[in-house]
Amino acid sequence: MEDTTLIIKTETAIKEREIHGFIFACTNKSQEECLTRMLFGTSRQYGAVAMRVKKGDILFLLNIDNDFLFGVFRATADARRNIEPKAWGGNYPYQVTVESLGDILPLASGGKLLKQMGIGRLSVLFPKGMTKLLDFYRPLNTEVKEWRKEILTGTGKIQPSILEPRNWELLGKVQKIKDIEEIPELQATTFWDFPRQNYGKNKKGNNKYAGVTPAELIWNLVWRYTEPGDLVVDPMCGSGTTLDVCNEEGRKAICYDVKPPEFRNDILQNDARQIPLFDNSVDLVFIDSPYGDNIKYNEHPANIGLISSETEEFYSELEEVITEAYRILKPGKVLGWLIGDQWVKKKATPVGFLLYSRLTKYFDTVDIVCVARRNQSSNTGIWANRARRFNFYLRGFKYLFILRKPVSGEKTEEPREISWTYYTRERKKPN
Ligand SMILES: C[S@@+](CC[C@H](N)C(=O)[O-])C[C@H]1O[C@@H](n2cnc3c(N)ncnc32)[C@H](O)[C@@H]1O
Repeated sequence: MEDTTLIIKTETAIKEREIHGFIFACTNKSQEECLTRMLFGTSRQYGAVAMRVKKGDILFLLNIDNDFLFGVFRATADARRNIEPKAWGGNYPYQVTVESLGDILPLASGGKLLKQMGIGRLSVLFPKGMTKLLDFYRPLNTEVKEWRKEILTGTGKIQPSILEPRNWELLGKVQKIKDIEEIPELQATTFWDFPRQNYGKNKKGNNKYAGVTPAELIWNLVWRYTEPGDLVVDPMCGSGTTLDVCNEEGRKAICYDVKPPEFRNDILQNDARQIPLFDNSVDLVFIDSPYGDNIKYNEHPANIGLISSETEEFYSELEEVITEAYRILKPGKVLGWLIGDQWVKKKATPVGFLLYSRLTKYFDTVDIVCVARRNQSSNTGIWANRARRFNFYLRGFKYLFILRKPVSGEKTEEPREISWTYYTRERKKPN
């Protein structure tokens, strides 16, 4: 009787929200703690995928030292930060509590298998793909459909002898699975190049909106500088890319534009030079402002995009936005500002440098990122030809300035003592 109830419950859960599959990792050192606490955890690098885990999802644990893939587990609650703050010395704060479905089976060559199936640590498995992986834990001579149902309800058995010859053969034939979603990766260098405006299954912002921001750029700032539940503000949010990224990543977001687009009602109308929020209340501000009057966003009189970046006025108006961003940010928190230079009618305007000199009046620099410009209207063969013929350059990149509001309220300018490691190259002696 009880089993049937469980099956019905799981089926309803699957109907309401698809059950997804996830791979967590451990080492020889951390494996025992995972299995005794029945807690899986990870660092910021994989935090975004871990925080997608919802109660009922299926999990596997890959020991990256010996390549065993332990399964099958089920999340007993939604993932949270610091469920056990002291686990693994505090190194893996994005955590999920799990229960095992039957015996815990170590599947040898698990890492190899995942690679062949195209499953990585940033993959979210959808039901079809997940059941293909689950099948490696199925005892011989069991009916596939019935067993899958049982394993999802926790009544199914898994079999330690799974790596019998039949499965070694299978390993060779395993194909890449398709129903998978890849979570973006944290960028490691100061050169960011996003070939597409969007990532993942859900739309973020509107790629038809002039000057729309690459969603992965915002995703990177969100995951580098905030935690789930933090507040993000975009005072010039255009089609709402920041709002959509934050909604998916479990951040609160308040987004404004001087003229919110008609196709959405969750963007507030406001002039970025006066933001209706308290001082020191925000965890991250992101701004992709106009770069001058090169794009016609709208005719609203307060639209800074109606002012030429060749005038001082443009930078003075942006400075009013800078002081507002400064005021609302909590001390120590980050402002990300995306901007590009201008070259029009034989005149180059270093918009990035001019804005940066205003920004550093208030903020400390965290870093400066070069963002490749893609899908610009000038990104055509005709324009490339003109650039060569008439000896000018097309804009190939934008600046992403990452700045921090100083903690003391005063900019940190003291020189620091650094002990460099110098490398010298020995001169070759002539023969
Ligand atoms: C580069 S777009 C932002 C694109 C946006 N991040 C997206 O992904 O769709 C710049 C935006 O700044 C807005 N804007 C211009 N002046 C403004 C002001 N004074 N206050 C608020 N928004 C302003 C424009 O309406 C435009 O939507």
